[in-house]
Amino acid sequence: MITLVVGMQWGDEGKAKVIDLLASSYDYVVRYQGGANAGHTVVVDDKKFIFHLLPSGLMNPSAIVVVGNGVVIDIDQLFDEIQSLENLGFPVRNRVIISDKAHVVMEYHKIIDSLREKASPKKIGTTSRGIGPCYEDKISRRGIRISDIVNLEVNQLAKKIETFAQEKVFLMKNLYNYDYDFNALKLAESCKSKFESLGVEVRNTEILLNREINSGKSVLFEGAQGILLDIDFGTYPYVTSSNASSSGVSTGTGVSLKKVDNVIGIVKSYTTRVGEGPFPTEQDNDIGQEIRNKGGEFGATTGRPRRCGWLDLPLLRYSSIVGGITEIFLTKIDVLSDLDEIKVCTDYSIDGEIFDMPPFMDPQTLYSVKPIYKTFKGWKKKLSDVKKFEDFPKEAIAYIDFIQQSLNVPITYVSVGPERHQTVILK
Ligand code: IMP
Repeated sequence: MITLVVGMQWGDEGKAKVIDLLASSYDYVVRYQGGANAGHTVVVDDKKFIFHLLPSGLMNPSAIVVVGNGVVIDIDQLFDEIQSLENLGFPVRNRVIISDKAHVVMEYHKIIDSLREKASPKKIGTTSRGIGPCYEDKISRRGIRISDIVNLEVNQLAKKIETFAQEKVFLMKNLYNYDYDFNALKLAESCKSKFESLGVEVRNTEILLNREINSGKSVLFEGAQGILLDIDFGTYPYVTSSNASSSGVSTGTGVSLKKVDNVIGIVKSYTTRVGEGPFPTEQDNDIGQEIRNKGGEFGATTGRPRRCGWLDLPLLRYSSIVGGITEIFLTKIDVLSDLDEIKVCTDYSIDGEIFDMPPFMDPQTLYSVKPIYKTFKGWKKKLSDVKKFEDFPKEAIAYIDFIQQSLNVPITYVSVGPERHQTVILK
């Protein structure tokens, strides 16, 4: 079985719990895009761990994890993450395989990311993890790849870094007035020694994965961020710099989407977003505050409070089409339990015309839409112990049914709490 798990909103849908839950049924868990901008929180037996770079399927001792060529790797972060997991008692080193073609997030990528954010009058609200600048260098063929770290001598690597970083160092000094103590040799030595000390396996992962799939092995692809943050299909320019939608699998691992049997779209029972950009159903009021507090909606990577609002069906219809979603895993429904009423945006109105999907995904359109809401009665009951669909209060069943009918995609799981066992299976 080849399964893809992808977030259908602006990230933070609770994908890590889903991956952690499913990982034991798969031989490989694979990340295909993004980098340490992700924050995937897994809770097992009250122990909480936040993954930024490694696939969250690692908490499951049987899976081998692969970091595909589409991921951008911050070696310091990788080092810290592996050490923290091992300190917690999870064996890691011989279970991680990294693509030789993955690009490396260098120190200068992170610096320029922060400088741009500070200087820009129109901020994106990035995580300052160097993601955009690293992907820029990849596309403009000035990137440092894992194969460079492994295969080049330190002096050769330093030379490459020196050449490729030049432009950024110039910008830092002349555009941002930032005095960067750039030393290519020091960077090369530190990247090489840190990476080599990890002892992780580096491979041509596109060949490995295709061979393993052809021989019947199962693979779980783990998306980071969400479809609305996809560089092409998201709410550009307020997006991340990778293909966070399903299409990222093929470019980010070399495995054709034809091989994927099912695409599980993760939908949080309400909507959140971190950073700037349009958010039609945002509740910048007491309701939003209540959802934020109940749902612990603070960024796992940056600690920023997440903006909160009602579920947005027009955007989810769009994500469902673009992502080729075959089933939905609905998360965090328990967070809504204390509300008297719960709203869902069913359509948008623009100048009196009704749209069931955004006509355009540009900020101008999305800032101007007027959400049309349907109001549901709150269930006002704790859901965290619900085990079967029939045990949900009838108001919660009405909410779940309405979502799946509106999106025309079956909801196959509903999560009622952060632990693995707090999951109701509907199939
Ligand atoms: P970047 O990926 O750091 O360049 O940030 C670009 C946008 O994507 C910002 O609005 C971030 O807040 C958002 N973003 C990046 N990663 C995540 C994530 O894992 N969850 C939610 N938002 C994210």
